Amino acid sequence: MVLENRVVVSPMDQYCAVDGVPTDWHLVHLGSRAVGGAGLVYVEMTCVSPEGRITPAAPDCGTTRSATPSGASWTSATRTRRPSCACQIGHSGRKGSTQLGWEKMDHPLESNNWPIVSASPIPYLEGISQVLARFLVKR
Ligand SMILES: Cc1cc2nc3c(=O)[nH]c(=O)nc-3n(C[C@H](O)[C@H](O)[C@H](O)COP(=O)(O)O)c2cc1C
Repeated sequence: MVLENRVVVSPMDQYCAVDGVPTDWHLVHLGSRAVGGAGLVYVEMTCVSPEGRITPAAPDCGTTRSATPSGASWTSATRTRRPSCACQIGHSGRKGSTQLGWEKMDHPLESNNWPIVSASPIPYLEGISQVLARFLVKR
């Protein structure tokens, strides 16, 4: 990939998606970086599935939702001055279903938690974080 310049905007979770879908906030956030002339604008961690979100305000790549008008804002925001755009794809693992950055960060939601999917039975925060249900079953 050849960039117009060396300025790269880091992926920064905005905690502003609604039901996994980006909002006008993302349009403004990414668009203003693009207008500023960055060579590459990185979109925040976008999760492979709703269950893979860290917080309820993270964007996800839900197949039905990515077709919505606001889902187009990733690219429309960064086309303003045609910089390159990259999207960070991720999965929360054992850190999933937690509170927003300005709440009790990394702590489980106070309500409406969804079951997490992780590769190990080790909780993110000992005695606090959720553990994948199948690891709780005694074998
Ligand atoms: C509000 C905020 C949200 C962030 N979200 C992400 C993210 O979604 N993915 C990621 O890899 N890093 C994320 N980071 C880390 C940044 O991309 C960057 O690596 C970090 O701020 C260190 O860079 P700096 O020394 O230039 O600040 C975030 C940082 C901040 C401050």
